Amino acid sequence: ALQLTLAVIKPDAVAHPLILEALHQKILENKFIIVKSKEIVWQRQDSERFYAEHKGRFFYQRLVEFMSSGPMQAYILAREEAVSQWRMMMGPTKVFRARYVAPGTIRARFGLTDTRNTTHGSDSEDSARREIAFFFPEFSVAEWMERV
Ligand code: CMP
Repeated sequence: ALQLTLAVIKPDAVAHPLILEALHQKILENKFIIVKSKEIVWQRQDSERFYAEHKGRFFYQRLVEFMSSGPMQAYILAREEAVSQWRMMMGPTKVFRARYVAPGTIRARFGLTDTRNTTHGSDSEDSARREIAFFFPEFSVAEWMERV
């Protein structure tokens, strides 16, 4: 079914113009429609709010700091099975695992560490709705779905 997902190119990837360009191309080549896109810079508190579920994990502090360390590019992407398709393209969270089990994926090719892993993607339709609202508060998923 047609779905929306929230995709984020994280600060490590946005920092390098070639990688940002490569990822943007990859999105288009894989039949996603870019519904909305914007550059965004998080304050520390945005980062803490978005990753509240990870509070207490050993990587929480470095994650929060990293995600508020520079500009990101956020996308609302539309496609058949957008959620799982984007996650498949990203590959596993952990970069070294990604390189081992899914060598062609985005994180395998461009990820630096388990934290600086290049991209984010919603893990379900429910998280997509929640995360789209977080990044694009003015956007209504329901209205968009009615129009297509
Ligand atoms: P993301 O898909 O944005 O969701 C949570 C993030 O936490 C994840 O990508 C990584 O950036 C980070 N993360 C998850 N697991 C680890 C880990 N084991 N070590 C360091 N960072 C992690």
